[in-house]
Amino acid sequence: MIIDGKKFARKLKLKIKKEIQSIKKKTRLTPGLTVILIGNHAPSEIYVRNKAISAKEVGINSKVLRFKNSISETKLISVIQKLNKDKKVHGILVQLPLPDHIHGHKIIEEIDPRKDVDGFHPINVGNLSSGKDSLISCTPLGCYLMIKSIRKNLSGLNALMIGRSNLNGKPMVQLLLKEDCTVTIGHSKTKNLKELCKKADIVVVAAGRANLVKGDWIKKGAIVIDVGINRVKKKNGYKIIGDVEFKSVVKKTKAITPVPGGVGPVTIACLLNNTLKAFKNINYLSSK
Ligand code: GUN
Repeated sequence: MIIDGKKFARKLKLKIKKEIQSIKKKTRLTPGLTVILIGNHAPSEIYVRNKAISAKEVGINSKVLRFKNSISETKLISVIQKLNKDKKVHGILVQLPLPDHIHGHKIIEEIDPRKDVDGFHPINVGNLSSGKDSLISCTPLGCYLMIKSIRKNLSGLNALMIGRSNLNGKPMVQLLLKEDCTVTIGHSKTKNLKELCKKADIVVVAAGRANLVKGDWIKKGAIVIDVGINRVKKKNGYKIIGDVEFKSVVKKTKAITPVPGGVGPVTIACLLNNTLKAFKNINYLSSK
């Protein structure tokens, strides 16, 4: 089975849209998301545009604040502090990467954790690690929801997370642990990645290496989630491929996400879900 990320995202967005409509009727309030975009990094421009379009689709007020690459750290912090106080803003997202002179961790720590829809603030990271309610990084959250849609009970399954980044690998490990999986983390220095992979019932790959995982790495019936986005040259132009060699792997799996059209659209839907969650928490509305 190929998991259709676009379809999955459409369903999730419809659910979010309906809930926002009903909240608007009751409270006359609208969730608000502000995205901060610095410089003119081409992929970031595309991501931010897609985030803004999707937010509008579900009825979230979204705004993009653009700044030049030369913005100072102090100025950026003052922008965030203002957004923290703004009652119409429930979600704040600072698009990464940031220019070299700005310390990412300093900026993230300035965001009110209740408005941290990326789930990057140490308070949210800590709450997730201790099994408490928190805003969760959108990509791993999307991967988790897709895995759960294939198989409800993950207890005791062997899960392999390839990649250990703060954005993807580490939060994904926490989500799989919460489901009672036996989790192994593989990364660039891991020696026997193929052997580890052959034992895994669930494989999530966020390594940033095109076609890293091959068909003979995969246990029959595994669930494979490919977070990779690699731009590779083809005859006339470029194409985007994942970290999984789709053609050889697909035959072995119970379910797999394609690239493109897998994890990407679901990540955006999860950002909208996080914005709704932040809005409800801030306004003391119950969560469904
Ligand atoms: N740049 C690439 N992915 C992300 C993400 O998930 N959040 C933010 N803020 N920036 C990104």
